[in-house]
Amino acid sequence: MSNLIYVGGQKGGTTKTTTSHLLCLGAILKKHPAAYVLTDPHRNIKAEGRPYGVLDGRDPDNLSQIIVASTSTKNGWLVVDGGGNRPAFDQAMSEAAEMTVLPFRPSEEDLEAVAKDLSAMPGSIALPSAWSTNKLAQESSRRLIEALEQAFPGRVLTTPVWFVNAAAELLGATLDSPTTPVRNAARHTFDILANAFEKHSKRGSPTIEIPREPVQAQ
Ligand SMILES: Nc1ncnc2c1ncn2[C@@H]1O[C@H](COP(=O)(O)OP(=O)(O)OP(=O)(O)O)[C@@H](O)[C@H]1O
Ligand SMILES: [Mg+2]
Repeated sequence: MSNLIYVGGQKGGTTKTTTSHLLCLGAILKKHPAAYVLTDPHRNIKAEGRPYGVLDGRDPDNLSQIIVASTSTKNGWLVVDGGGNRPAFDQAMSEAAEMTVLPFRPSEEDLEAVAKDLSAMPGSIALPSAWSTNKLAQESSRRLIEALEQAFPGRVLTTPVWFVNAAAELLGATLDSPTTPVRNAARHTFDILANAFEKHSKRGSPTIEIPREPVQAQ
């Protein structure tokens, strides 16, 4: 069966989508089947030109079907990208997923947001993301990880996903030949989350109920 990962959190721009794509690409590079699932109703699907599957889970019924169907894939990764500031959706997916990952960037705002999400979603884990590779900047951002780890022991991953200059590649229309930095970041992200999965995963709940969000005027 596929490992069901939910990448969520309330705050915008924390790298949910990029991290989801990195994880899928990393899985493929390590020879595991992988699929990315879009759920944000305000985003468009970019299904072509990727080495992993891209599935449309914007409709809750489709999403449930995708999740059920993924149980027949052996050793695969199904990565559900949240977003769109939908607390009820975050909640439901964190219950359905085997592991919920909450990326956060090194900023006070992201730290506050991820702390709220860790409280709201028991069992979820925080992933430092787009972390600077500069030594001085690392020093101050390490303190952010430590502060969070103190408040939520065992629920903060200590190896960050590094800042990747070419990260925008991952969200482009196609991803036919990813550059070396992107492939390296993808393998690294996969390693971090595959290790975390061994420690933190739970078996998905057998019944999956995903709430419909009220349709909002644009
Ligand atoms: N590891 C990284 N290194 C450098 N930049 C990154 C990294 N991850 C994401 N980014 C950049 O950060 C920005 C936000 O990323 P992304 O769209 O993945 O966030 P998001 O949480 O999905 O946002 P939203 O809440 O709008 O869905 C993008 O410009 C992306 O290129
Ligand atoms: Mg996104």
